[in-house]
Amino acid sequence: MTSRVCVIVAVMTGWRMDLDQLRAQTPGCLHRIHLNNAGAALMSRSTLEAMTAHLRLEAEIGGYEAAAQAQEQIDATSAALAQLVGGRSEEVALFDNSTHAWNAAFYSIPLGPGDRILTGRDEYGSNVLAYLQVARRTGAEIVVVPDDGEGQIDVGALTRLVDETDQADRADPGADQRRPGQPAAAVGRIARDAGVLYLWVRDAALERLDPFVAEIRSATWDGGRGFTWADGARRFETWENSYVNIIGLGAALRQALELGLDAIGDRCRTLGERLREGLGQLPGVTTHDLGTHRCAIVTAKIAGLSADDVAAALRRATINVSTTVAGPNPLDTEERGIHPLVRFSPHYYNTEAEIDRAVAAVAELASSAGHP
Ligand SMILES: Cc1ncc(COP(=O)(O)O)c(C=O)c1O
Repeated sequence: MTSRVCVIVAVMTGWRMDLDQLRAQTPGCLHRIHLNNAGAALMSRSTLEAMTAHLRLEAEIGGYEAAAQAQEQIDATSAALAQLVGGRSEEVALFDNSTHAWNAAFYSIPLGPGDRILTGRDEYGSNVLAYLQVARRTGAEIVVVPDDGEGQIDVGALTRLVDETDQADRADPGADQRRPGQPAAAVGRIARDAGVLYLWVRDAALERLDPFVAEIRSATWDGGRGFTWADGARRFETWENSYVNIIGLGAALRQALELGLDAIGDRCRTLGERLREGLGQLPGVTTHDLGTHRCAIVTAKIAGLSADDVAAALRRATINVSTTVAGPNPLDTEERGIHPLVRFSPHYYNTEAEIDRAVAAVAELASSAGHP
């Protein structure tokens, strides 16, 4: 009985204790209120140390030699990523950023006239540019799935579009800057049932892709005038890599897995909701997030002030935020023309007090712009 009570108490108070410790492990928390985590979160001490240790090793013994010595750590990054997405290490390819990773998959889909690329209104700008280029090159058609009344992808409309499209390969939506609460699982189910390609490249999808770059990591010369692709997802990778970054990614992944993605997500959403509510109550301030399940990203406008000026003023007050602009949100801009907006994105290590300070700073700016 006693031990059960102890467990419950630990659960109820555990987050708070962890939060203090986590903030102590995140040096950037000391100096700024970092609400630009959808851009780049603050590095924790363990990630920083893993990266600097490898950089030092490279300087001391040489880059290739350091990579050979750190092979276990490098492999551990792929294993941790596989655990994160529910796949296997052989299904993981590493890239220097997510745009290149997405491009490697997308540009490897053999498309042609009559094929359709189904995407959502909130598709990320780089992905839209890739659609436009590939459509121009191949004759494939881009179809934007309409939103439902809540600003989320209309799952019924998507089902109808998939049904009316023949069984050619199709690509489907990615992430978003402004209204991220998309029914990704429902879209995934529709894609799976119809055999439509959708983001994560499992083994089963591998044979349907024609990797867009062959090089000595992704392919092997056959001794004549041909080559064979490497096994698994390695056929998308490049030979030269920043192993400092890969080792840092591994450290960050381990931390995320230890904390738990659900716990991180819950914490972020709670902070996002507090921020959205606080901002929404200020005179002259509007928030613009859509969807029935809103995530932690909060977008806002102060009437009479430009998003850039607001972001700069907040930065001077040691509050980091970002702005959303038309380029990365082209389809949303076509529909609503709402950008630029100020973008706040809290993370698990932000505190309620920081959120309240950010709201107070926005209130002050709004007041200076004539909204008392
Ligand atoms: C929705 C979304 N997808 C992808 C990216 C690109 O990520 P990366 O910088 O890792 O290429 C961004 C960057 O802003 C983004 O906002």
